[in-house]
Amino acid sequence: MKKTGLFYGTTSGSTKKVAELIKKEMGADSVDIYDIKNTKPEDILQYENLIFGTSAWGIGDMQDDWELLIDDIVDLDFTGKKIALFGLGDQENYPGSFADGMGTIYCRLPVKDQIVGFTSTRGYKYYFSSAEKDGKFVGLAIDHDSQADKTPERVKKWAAQLKKEFN
Ligand SMILES: Cc1cc2nc3c(=O)[nH]c(=O)nc-3n(C[C@H](O)[C@H](O)[C@H](O)COP(=O)(O)O)c2cc1C
Repeated sequence: MKKTGLFYGTTSGSTKKVAELIKKEMGADSVDIYDIKNTKPEDILQYENLIFGTSAWGIGDMQDDWELLIDDIVDLDFTGKKIALFGLGDQENYPGSFADGMGTIYCRLPVKDQIVGFTSTRGYKYYFSSAEKDGKFVGLAIDHDSQADKTPERVKKWAAQLKKEFN
C-alpha cells in the first residue's frame, strides 16, 4: 500500500484520538497525520491515499477548520488518488444530523468514484444522516459520545478494509 495522508479537524480532541487509532491500526509507518488547522491544501497532494476526518456541529456542518479550507481543497487535482472519510458524531443527542460533517465532505468532493471505505449502518440508531447514501455510510461513522466502547473494533475493521481498497 502506498503512503497515506490523514487530515483531521477537531474541536475538543475526539477526532484526533480516532485519527491516532486509525494510524495505529493501519501501521504507524504507513500513515502521516495532520491537523487540518495547520495544513496547506497543497500538503494533501503528496499522498496517493487520503483519509479525511471531521466531527459534526449541526445540520450539515463540518468541524470549523474544515469549513475554512474546504473551498480550496475541493479545487485540488485528485487524479489517481483514493480518498476515505471518517466522521464523528453523537447519535443520541443529534439523531437528525448524525455525523453530518462527513456527509458534507462527501457532497463537496468532486471525485465521488474515488471515495472508498463505505461501511454498514448496522449498530447505529439515528433517523437522518447526510453521511448515509444508498443504505451505507460514505465512510466510517464514529460515535465517541454514546458508543465509545465500539470505537476500537470499528476502527480495526475499517483499517483492514482500507488496506484492500487503497492504492
Ligand atoms: C454544539 C454541538 C453540536 C453538535 N452537533 C452535532 C450534530 O449535528 N451531529 C452529530 O452527529 N454530532 C454533533 N455533535 C457532537 C460532536 O460531533 C461530537 O461530540 C464529536 O465527537 C466532537 O469531536 P471533536 O472533539 O473531535 O470535535 C455536536 C456537539 C456539540 C457540542
